[in-house]
Amino acid sequence: MGKILEIKNLTKEFKEFTAVKDVSFFVEEGGFFSILGPSGCGKTTLLRMISGFIKESSGEILIKGESMSGIPPEKRPVNIVFQSLALFPMMNVRENVAFGLKRQKLSKQEVDERVKDMLGRVSLHGFEKKKVTELSGGQRQRVAIARSLVMKPSILLLDEPLGALDRKLREHMKIELKLLQKEIGTTFIYITHDQSEALVMSDKVAVMNKGRFEQIDTPRNLYKNPKTAFVAGFVGESNRFELTDYSDHKLTTENGWKVEKPNLDFTPKVLYIRPEALIIEPTDDIADLFKFEVVIKTILFDGSNTKVSAIVTSSKDELLISLPQNAKFEDLKEGDKVQVGVNYNDLKCYKE
Ligand SMILES: Nc1ncnc2c1ncn2[C@@H]1O[C@H](COP(=O)(O)OP(=O)(O)O)[C@@H](O)[C@H]1O
Ligand SMILES: [Mg+2]
Repeated sequence: MGKILEIKNLTKEFKEFTAVKDVSFFVEEGGFFSILGPSGCGKTTLLRMISGFIKESSGEILIKGESMSGIPPEKRPVNIVFQSLALFPMMNVRENVAFGLKRQKLSKQEVDERVKDMLGRVSLHGFEKKKVTELSGGQRQRVAIARSLVMKPSILLLDEPLGALDRKLREHMKIELKLLQKEIGTTFIYITHDQSEALVMSDKVAVMNKGRFEQIDTPRNLYKNPKTAFVAGFVGESNRFELTDYSDHKLTTENGWKVEKPNLDFTPKVLYIRPEALIIEPTDDIADLFKFEVVIKTILFDGSNTKVSAIVTSSKDELLISLPQNAKFEDLKEGDKVQVGVNYNDLKCYKE
């Protein structure tokens, strides 16, 4: 599998404002690559440059090794699915999906075959004659994807395509989309501000902040080893502490909590600890553990995602701790004093 897309030092300036700053990355053929970042960080601008709707200020876009410089959008082997979907409301499902093919002046037979095949793949067989206005949100979503995929693009670009759906349907669609991508094998580049969408679906994720890529990694690595404070804070849940000192292998939080962290070769400004990295009542056989005492403040019951809010006895710092749903902790209640441990490796420290 080679690189289907390669981006080199891509920058986009709007007057004085730089929306995309010196972004470089590549995407493997058949991959599911996500670009994850908060609203306004430059995701759509980046996608528009890849599709050719706007011109880069500098840098290079290669698709299958070929420079896209000067190639208009309709000549690029890419297709976009927009958040708004942009379906034709007056047309039925079949006509929506056939639209692009008809413009290519293909034979009626070929159009019919390709539309039928694609509707089958997105589980919309039998919906040909329905108006798109008669469909559910999830079905409309699939029509939009079918309409793009039927054109057989080398790369499908998806700009927050699940943004308009309600939570439940979004959960369902992200699993469907991943399965669909696997089955069809088209390279997907998916942009979203929703970290869960990016983590669940992608082979690789780029985390974008203020026009720059902060880290490109597998979902697991992003979560396990965030390279910057921004990534640590944006991907997954974390307890965050501002630091005032690092000496004698101890970090000091603003409230004066001394957190043991051996062998750092720099002085960090901020500490992140994931709720599930905190172990309640750790057994003595676990190595490399920093242990401390907390008082339970509240139990935030949420099924398998239940957490407790706890106060560090020595400093009054507050933190969230994941609570495994097993009998051992069933009697835990407000006001209880408990020992908590965290592995040194799970104390994530950053310069800023
Ligand atoms: N045509 C434009 N002219 C000026 N600024 C723009 C233009 N398009 C986007 N921007 C700015 O670039 C930044 C990134 O926008 P966008 O790429 O849409 O972000 P995202 O998709 O991540 O929410 C925003 O601050 C936006 O206001
Ligand atoms: Mg956008």
